[in-house]
Amino acid sequence: MLIKSKRASDVASSEITDQSIYQQRRKFLRNTALFGASAALAPGLLLPESVIAGDRLANVVKSAYTLDDELTPYDAVTEYNNFYELGTGKRDPAANAKRLKTSPWSVAIEGECAKPGVYDIEDFIKPHKLEERVYRLRCVEAWSMVIPWVGISLADVLKRFEPTSKAKFVEFTSIHDPKNLPGQRVKTLDWPYVEGLRIDEAMHPLSILAVGLYGEVLPNQNGAPMRLVVPWKYGFKSSKSIVRIRFTESMPKTAWNKAGPNEYGFYSNVNPVVDHPRWSQRRERRIGEFRKRKTLMFNGYAEEVASLYTGMDLKKHF
Ligand code: MTE
Repeated sequence: MLIKSKRASDVASSEITDQSIYQQRRKFLRNTALFGASAALAPGLLLPESVIAGDRLANVVKSAYTLDDELTPYDAVTEYNNFYELGTGKRDPAANAKRLKTSPWSVAIEGECAKPGVYDIEDFIKPHKLEERVYRLRCVEAWSMVIPWVGISLADVLKRFEPTSKAKFVEFTSIHDPKNLPGQRVKTLDWPYVEGLRIDEAMHPLSILAVGLYGEVLPNQNGAPMRLVVPWKYGFKSSKSIVRIRFTESMPKTAWNKAGPNEYGFYSNVNPVVDHPRWSQRRERRIGEFRKRKTLMFNGYAEEVASLYTGMDLKKHF
């Protein structure tokens, strides 16, 4: 398999990377020169041009915002994806991963802030602490995974650009490159992929911009070089391959809401009592498990995020 063959570790592509193997690999890397030498990145060099999916990320600290659920195997996390720009089949994103060109890459900061600008991805990430956070991802299609992300705090990033008092929402736009991305030659969505959060949701300490998973640079199919992760919302809120972040006064028009306004609301909080019009949201299948689990309110993060929605009718604002 193409992406895995470039990884710093030498786990065979046929091998399922479960949690114990992951831990062994981490130990191995810690205990060999590999971690300190060529396979690891020099401090301060987070995502240089030569970095490819699978290279290990250096200087990653463990975050307190982490779960001890069993991890979804690496192969499932990277081969069962939704990334419509690379095709609508679950295996299409991995198969077409090479079509996504992640270098050079810049991120535009626009709208209601004091410091708009265009930043090279390396400069964009460099000031921030890289943290590993194990989060649940619950897809609107009623499956879920547990993923050890490596990311940076979205709040810290946004504060750097000094949002004004008019910044009520934050809009995230993904790459638009129909020449290279096969899925964008078909009008499955109104391209580019746009998502949005209310500013207080974006500033919540659980919201991150992920640049890696399983300790390694984010594979293209998972949204390289940088994607949003908002664990209490359905997976589609977590925009991949972000090229623009805009502070806005009005609610952004999001790609899924435009495609199906009665199916995909702006909030998209994981909520087992609000069914999708075409299926129940009460249960979910954790990838790799046989028996379905009950879906938890806010994907299990109610204690942390429920207060964001005090007084709101979450059936109306789904
Ligand atoms: N971002 C973009 N740009 N395009 C997409 O098609 N799919 C979303 C979300 N982000 C999507 C996207 C959906 S529906 C889900 S469930 C998650 O990405 C899946 O993330 P994963 O493939 O890393 O598990």
